[in-house]
Amino acid sequence: AALYGSRVNSAGVEFGHAEELSRLMDDLKKAGLPTAPARAIVGGEARPGTRREIVSPIDGRTVAGVVEDADEATADVAMAAAKAGFSAWAATPAATRAEAIRKASDLLEARRGLFLNLLQVEAGKTLDDAVADLREAVDFCRYYARQAERLFGEGTVMPGPTGEENRLVLRGRGPFVAISPWNFPLAIFLGQVTAALVAGNSVVAKPAEQTPVIAFEAVKLLHEAGVPRSALHYVPGDGRIGARLVAHPAVAGVVFTGSTEVARIINRTLAAKEGPIVPLIAETGGINAMIVDATALPEQVADDVVTSAFRSAGQRCSALRLMCVQEDVADRMIEMVVGAARELKVGDPRDPSVHVGPVIDAEAKEKLEAHIKAMKESARTHLATPGPTPGTYVGPHVFELAGPSDLKEEIFGPILHVVRYKANRLDDVIAAIDATGYGLTLGIHSRIEDTVARIVARLETGNVYVNRNIIGAVVGTQPFGGHGLSGTGPKAGGPHYLLRFATEQTVTINT
Ligand code: NAD
Ligand code: ALA
Repeated sequence: AALYGSRVNSAGVEFGHAEELSRLMDDLKKAGLPTAPARAIVGGEARPGTRREIVSPIDGRTVAGVVEDADEATADVAMAAAKAGFSAWAATPAATRAEAIRKASDLLEARRGLFLNLLQVEAGKTLDDAVADLREAVDFCRYYARQAERLFGEGTVMPGPTGEENRLVLRGRGPFVAISPWNFPLAIFLGQVTAALVAGNSVVAKPAEQTPVIAFEAVKLLHEAGVPRSALHYVPGDGRIGARLVAHPAVAGVVFTGSTEVARIINRTLAAKEGPIVPLIAETGGINAMIVDATALPEQVADDVVTSAFRSAGQRCSALRLMCVQEDVADRMIEMVVGAARELKVGDPRDPSVHVGPVIDAEAKEKLEAHIKAMKESARTHLATPGPTPGTYVGPHVFELAGPSDLKEEIFGPILHVVRYKANRLDDVIAAIDATGYGLTLGIHSRIEDTVARIVARLETGNVYVNRNIIGAVVGTQPFGGHGLSGTGPKAGGPHYLLRFATEQTVTINT
């Protein structure tokens, strides 16, 4: 415990407490939405770009903010600025770097109204999801600050012969490109950026094109907290700008969270580069499964499945996509899951009684609707909830497939697929989950210890949850990240994450 530090996470909000909720609502009301456009920030200077309104998925009308997307010249200038800004920041004591990141976490909490508004309006999050995103962002900042002090201080004295001093020190790598997704537009954006910074790297941050405004506000806040403008640069734009940044000769490392497909593209670009070999930290998707056997408690299964599959409108990389249920209890379990899912209210996420908000944009909705149409033709439909309009809503759906291999890709929305398995064919189910090639989250609902141990031993999934839901990994408690098609294996919010952002140097002094 001493090695990894004690766990102190940010305070939650007690939604049932009237005064607490009303204080929160007041903060939201007072903060409003930003009015200045989100422009690229390079070396502290704003650089104009192509203007674009960010229209809220809540109603397709409300403008969350305006972004000015950067062009390739700005991307190149940002990389050059990050290269120039690296050495001074790398030479800054780890404790000073950590202090700036910690200060940022305090500012985030103090300005929660603005960030929660953006999480709701720009990203379409329900209030409890918005609070969870903000809290995770705060937790990442504080956790990585503490880890940096532990790892990047004086280094580790190594044993050696008399007359010789040996020390192992960690150092930043250089300019890091941080590319993030829209589904945790604050927590993942800041998690990547603060990990890279606190480890002594300079950073060029490119947020998802759907959520650049909240990222812009977060970058300004980091500058205000003491991160030098020469060390952190902000470049909004779509995948083309991400590709431009990654291809730049100055890149010393890339941290990417998003789809497996884009991770592969980035990997190929880095592999083809001349010069030093550039590491990629990739955290990607999953076809996440839950195995439910006949000993599981039906009420608990229903609750955990509904939370895992439909909370956040299924737009978590950790969300449940495939429930594998033992045939003997399947009818009852499916009936209970469907019954619980029917109770979910779909609609404007600013209404505190709503459980399922919109999916991120019209493109996401179209893709999900195409999948729903295909499922209705080929699978058994247990639940098909329409999404209201206007806005980009998709209600919870439950489809039963003939076998696990019928689900061929990650479906990023509130759609649960169910398969039945015979008690004596559990090994086939395990093999089918393994065969997806993904390994992000896995759920097991069973009261038989041997069954649980057998499944855990056979699957290399990054995060395994037994007899509970499979979302909402807590920083410092459930280090989060997957293997295979789900990523290169780093554990965000874990004690070893910062090592991925560093080089190690052994200094031997003949005294
Ligand atoms: P995405 O891959 O489409 O985009 C992610 C980011 O990559 C965006 O900023 C985008 O602009 C950028 N990008 C796109 N093409 C690029 C290119 N050629 N070069 C460089 N950058 C490029 O993913 P998304 O739709 O934003 O996010 C959803 C995905 O993210 C899902 O697959 C989900 O499972 C995954 N995800 C994983 C984790 C995790 O921790 N493992 C967490 C959240 C989301
Ligand atoms: N860390 C997030 C979760 O566990 C993605 O749900």
